[in-house]
Amino acid sequence: MIKCETISQLREIVNEWKQQGKRIGLVPTMGYLHEGHLSLIDYIKSHCDCVIASVFVNPKQFGPGEDIDRYPQDFERDMQLLQERGVDVLFIPESNEIYPDDYYTYVQVDELGKGLCGRSRPTHFRGVTTIVSKLFLITKCDVAAFGQKDYQQAVIIQRMVKDLNFDIQIIVCPTVREEDGVAMSSRNSYLSAEERSSAVHLYQSLKRAENLFKSGELHAARLREEMKSSLLSTPEINVDYLEVVDAETLQSIDKVHRITLLAGAVWVGKTRLIDNILIDP
Ligand code: PAJ
Repeated sequence: MIKCETISQLREIVNEWKQQGKRIGLVPTMGYLHEGHLSLIDYIKSHCDCVIASVFVNPKQFGPGEDIDRYPQDFERDMQLLQERGVDVLFIPESNEIYPDDYYTYVQVDELGKGLCGRSRPTHFRGVTTIVSKLFLITKCDVAAFGQKDYQQAVIIQRMVKDLNFDIQIIVCPTVREEDGVAMSSRNSYLSAEERSSAVHLYQSLKRAENLFKSGELHAARLREEMKSSLLSTPEINVDYLEVVDAETLQSIDKVHRITLLAGAVWVGKTRLIDNILIDP
């Protein structure tokens, strides 16, 4: 595995691959890797000739007071995991390589970023779409993989690719979970043992709503209530949102009549966790 810290170094490799007609796949990450990230690598590895993984804790997607200063990092371990999974190039730039002092340009997808996580993190998604655009242009990738765990992010990136005519195929891979159902996340490392056992309630509340749907309930309000009632009785958890939205438009719905997203964000102590499930009539 080649480790690149600069854009020019990466471009040299990519241009050679392009001349050879190779199909290039990209997996963008913020590091502190787990099996969720690695499932994306595995997908790209089996569908592309060349695999690029990026590790960059993108400052532009963190708001004031968020956890950028304590975001978990273990570059040595990340490098070993990526090497073991057969990544060809790790792109691991410093912040000023990506955002020099005179950096002014942002990419923003309107509408889709307003609800769900966008309500409490109003500048988050423009930070994501800006870095992902830059990574697409720097790596000249043909395919890029993202996780369903961050469903709203994946929908926004798909829309950006469509609206801006990026010639890139976006793959969304299923959420990888711990044995008890908790979605794997780098932020799970913040949780104390007690908080970790409370964290499972988010997934369980989504599953309860899914079960209610499977038993015939189509009213979004009832599904939302089902999620809420199970979480409100968990003292360590504060709900940011629990929503039932159209899986494509991310708009609230009254009744389930096509693919629908059950999505939640909760605070467990000082840690914000998100999760979602798709239901399909
Ligand atoms: P990060 O949280 O490191 O996640 C990198 C990729 O891994 C994202 O596509 C995310 O959806 C996926 N992922 C995370 N947990 C997962 C899980 N349990 N199962 C499956 N996939 C999972 O998301 C970001 O970084 C950033 O916003 C980024 C896209 C890199 C832009 O900075």
